[in-house]
Amino acid sequence: MSAPTPVFLAACRREPVPYTPIWVMRQAGRYLPEYRQVRSRVSFEALTRTPELAAEVTLQPLRRFALDAAILFSDIMTPLSGMGVDLTFEPGPVIGQPIRTDAAIDALRPLEPLRDVPFVLDTVRLVRAEAPRGVPLIGFAGGPFTLLCYLVGGRPSKEFETARAFLYESPRSAERLLDRLADAMAVYLGAQADAGAQALMMFESWGGLLAPPEFERFALRGAIRTLTALRARGVPLIYYLNQGCALLDRLASLPADVFGVDWRMPLGAVRRVLGPQKAVQGNLDPAALFAPPDELARQAESVLREAGGAPGHIFNLGHGIWPQTDPDALARLVDIVHDRSARGGVHA
Ligand code: CP3
Repeated sequence: MSAPTPVFLAACRREPVPYTPIWVMRQAGRYLPEYRQVRSRVSFEALTRTPELAAEVTLQPLRRFALDAAILFSDIMTPLSGMGVDLTFEPGPVIGQPIRTDAAIDALRPLEPLRDVPFVLDTVRLVRAEAPRGVPLIGFAGGPFTLLCYLVGGRPSKEFETARAFLYESPRSAERLLDRLADAMAVYLGAQADAGAQALMMFESWGGLLAPPEFERFALRGAIRTLTALRARGVPLIYYLNQGCALLDRLASLPADVFGVDWRMPLGAVRRVLGPQKAVQGNLDPAALFAPPDELARQAESVLREAGGAPGHIFNLGHGIWPQTDPDALARLVDIVHDRSARGGVHA
């Protein structure tokens, strides 16, 4: 007898599930004392480049919580080192020589995963060998526009002024860079799937900074290019857009199965815009994990109710879990989501 489809993958495909699956963005990270302990011995870069350690921290949250998916421990910027980018983490990504000219864009090497990121592929294999049955591994990459924000801006920022000005000053160069990044991320995600990743997610964390025409011209262009190249693999594709609820009606042409959203729009409204053919992922405010247990339960039930009980909901936070979060709050959230969705009462 073949094993049943893991609940997370069934939900990605909008198949019926016994309960709503849950995982959380940044589930392997600094809110966990066991992560901080590993990090006290090695730098973030070394952690991402050492498969045994990266696999260990990927698995840490699965030992504590009944999560329904694992996400590869790495960073959206990690593959760019392999393309020749001078990258460090402080702790956010910092680019030694920001990419702002056609010469710098053309100097980027095409990504060759076996040569440039073998440690990522080894991490995927190690996690697949050790993860509990029924807990699939999500591989991921940055959205081309989000990667551009860091490459052009040089470091994290609130508004990414330099990168957004670049789109208007040098739109052709921006498109050139986005196409290179989109092709590299298609190759990168494809290699993760070959190594065993069972779903692929694109993080377009800063796409919501753009006006709709620029979102379409720059962010959507790159995302479509990457995801179209992966479509035929049959692995669920997840597209996460932060602060992008006003852009949801632009996503119809994007070949993704699941759309991840932040907490600024209720999931019922999100589903009405995206239509019944799409699964949704989200969208509890990460701050809600600081509520007392009763209120956290009410907040989680509200997300489940908004999702509507139809197949195709994966519970998540609307953005990454904060480092200050009490791990016990996440334990409570996982139990609440499983318990309430299995009983079905929240859908009434
Ligand atoms: O558990 C997981 O979700 C997997 C690991 C993961 C990390 N980064 C680890 C990390 C994932 C999926 C990412 C993606 C990522 N990285 C995104 C997209 C998701 C999002 O949050 O919007 C972005 C924008 C980045 C860029 C980045 N990397 C920033 C802005 C920072 C610093 C901010 C911070 O949290 O301090 C990083 C560093 C980083 N990536 C850390 C971790 C655990 C902290 C490094 C440390 O341990 O010191």
